[in-house]
Amino acid sequence: MPAYVLVGAQWGDEGKGKIVDYLAAQTDLVVRYAGGNNAGHTVINQMGTFSLHLVPSGIFHPETTCIIGNGVVLDPAVFLAEISDLRSRGVDVSRVFISDRAHVIMPYHILLDQLEESAKGGLAIGTTGKGVGPAYMDKTARVGIRAGELLDPISLKPRLQQVIQYKNSILTKIYNSESFDLESVFTQCVEWGKQLKEFLRPTELLLQQAIARGKSILIEGAQGTLLDLDHGTYPYVTSSSSSVAGISGGLGIPPRDVSAVIGVFKAYCTRVGSGPIPTEMPTDIGVDIRERAWEYGTTTGRARRIGWFDAVVGRYSSRINGFTSAVLTRLDVLDGMPTVRICVGYKINGEIVEHFPSTTTLFEQCEPIYEDMDGWNEPTAGVTQLSQLPKEAMRYVKRLEELIECPIRLISTGPNREETIHIEPLF
Ligand code: IMP
Repeated sequence: MPAYVLVGAQWGDEGKGKIVDYLAAQTDLVVRYAGGNNAGHTVINQMGTFSLHLVPSGIFHPETTCIIGNGVVLDPAVFLAEISDLRSRGVDVSRVFISDRAHVIMPYHILLDQLEESAKGGLAIGTTGKGVGPAYMDKTARVGIRAGELLDPISLKPRLQQVIQYKNSILTKIYNSESFDLESVFTQCVEWGKQLKEFLRPTELLLQQAIARGKSILIEGAQGTLLDLDHGTYPYVTSSSSSVAGISGGLGIPPRDVSAVIGVFKAYCTRVGSGPIPTEMPTDIGVDIRERAWEYGTTTGRARRIGWFDAVVGRYSSRINGFTSAVLTRLDVLDGMPTVRICVGYKINGEIVEHFPSTTTLFEQCEPIYEDMDGWNEPTAGVTQLSQLPKEAMRYVKRLEELIECPIRLISTGPNREETIHIEPLF
């Protein structure tokens, strides 16, 4: 079992952090391959409650090495603050490594993210405003700064000079905004380089060596498949390949070394930012769920929109990623609902559609076709054995399994590590 991956199957926030934390106990390495500090994982364990944005959730297991791969965009200020918080709370961070090829989120990326969003007005994506999109844009435009370059001030300066000159003309001429001073950005970069030095490595090599030695590697997805740049609800997506597609490019390991792909599905849907969500619940039910389940963004604190489980999205996600097994989270949030609904297809202009449409315009027109199932009165919260699930909850799980075409092997029934039903090994 060289490497296995945990991917968000919906719009992110499926509860991957808890599952990574749960599985990391049996894993030698936990690694991230895409996204940046737009992601947020809440981990609750015996050491307390932690919100992680960059450091992989395996950090709480003393034997686990945590890697931030080259596909991640790294805001050094956020990373260093996270490390300092973990250290101050007694967590050993000596096993955290960052790829020297990871691109850096620079201060101008954060400002541009915010300016670009306001310029879009009603068509804004609703980004997290962390500079993630602009950093990936610079990566593909070949004007990005990589983490390893922060260690080489002599080569860095002319590159930075060129980029800042270009960024400043955009900032001042297009957005009528402030400009950046080369010297202060350069000084900041050199300081970041000094502080990041102990963490920087050619992580592709660490991973290749770990694979050669038969170590187990848990690859932690950020965001979710429906936010994937190619396969998500474009343009309301993030700027990286958050599906399984991003792994090889984002880590420097070949696809043949990934032997299991685990999809994480929430028992209902949520979404932050703009873009359609066809199964959005009526306000009263949505608000009730949001408050009970505290469905607010870990990174931005924004209220998440709540929808019924969308099996068209689920099946699409299963097929894109080739899930070999699935995890179902937050089943307990549906406890006590008289009826639970599953969207099994869409109608567009009266025509039944079973495949996920490619454009936002079509997606906005999708009317969900629901299958209603009886809810359950007895709680599933905290249940650890499959046999203790109410029969209606069991039926719901089985129906989801059929619709997503993939076996559900682990169910999360609460935020704590122990509140988990492990039905069968995930791989
Ligand atoms: P960006 O990644 O900040 O550019 O934001 C693009 C879209 O992805 C927005 O709709 C965000 O709300 C969404 N997004 C980014 N990261 C996450 C996440 O970790 N969970 C859920 N949504 C996210």
